[in-house]
Amino acid sequence: MNSFDAKHYLLSAVLKEQMIESYSIYPFCLPAVKGLSTRLEFHEAVTFIVGENGCGKSTLLEALAVSQGFNPEGGTKNFNFSTRSSHSSLSDYIRIAKSIKRPKTGYFLRAESFYNVATEIENLDNEPSFGPPIIDSYGGISLHEQSHGESFFALMKNRFGREGLYILDEPEAALSPGRQMAMISLLHQLIGQGCQFIIATHSPILLSYPNAAIYEIGERGLEKTQYEDTDTYAITKHFLNNYENMLEILLEG
Ligand SMILES: Nc1ncnc2c1ncn2[C@@H]1O[C@H](COP(=O)(O)OP(=O)(O)OP(=O)(O)O)[C@@H](O)[C@H]1O
Ligand SMILES: [Mg+2]
Repeated sequence: MNSFDAKHYLLSAVLKEQMIESYSIYPFCLPAVKGLSTRLEFHEAVTFIVGENGCGKSTLLEALAVSQGFNPEGGTKNFNFSTRSSHSSLSDYIRIAKSIKRPKTGYFLRAESFYNVATEIENLDNEPSFGPPIIDSYGGISLHEQSHGESFFALMKNRFGREGLYILDEPEAALSPGRQMAMISLLHQLIGQGCQFIIATHSPILLSYPNAAIYEIGERGLEKTQYEDTDTYAITKHFLNNYENMLEILLEG
């Protein structure tokens, strides 16, 4: 048996309901957070979180990341810079069950703060240090000198390692449809190396990865669903198959 055989790191998350005074205040009013009153069981490979804009996916992912010691602004556990202090303390209200196995590495990707991570790498590399430059483990080229998609892909290829825990918020934001497909292959390789992923996404391409559980956030909270039953899949498919009719409706008047 492999040392990482079917052992994932995060098993489940549930709200500490007894601590919550009101579900009408932020962040407990968000469907993604309210939904955690029912235990969320993580898949050993990939857990996808999908749902409408504003339902609380990023809020939830940040809380999960913070609970695991990641910087709320993104990056590895070694990054502790801060450009803002507005992250919610939701992580204090979530009970996470973990397996006895600890991840060896990990990364929290926030689409909107990847730029800050790139800057932090440059800053750290400009300081005197005995170790190799940090940028070497990201492929050697400053992330500011690559396109958004190129730098994200460089990050995944060079910096994501075996037996890691990866929490990714809309990783597709940077990627062309072709690169999103390439990301599925990369994801699959990393899963073969004992990695676990938690991914919030709007991408009907990424979401197709089969070794995964999909939770869709709606008014009824977090519901486990199948790929073809998600809005992401159904709406995209309907649009692409009927885009001329859809445009007529959308542009009416
Ligand atoms: N500090 C705050 N106080 C009150 N509401 C907030 C605060 N920060 C965020 N919100 C609200 O919480 C909601 C959830 O935001 P979040 O970013 O988690 O959504 P999301 O599901 O990730 O959406 P998207 O798909 O657009 O990325 C939003 O409506 C946002 O306006
Ligand atoms: Mg978001």
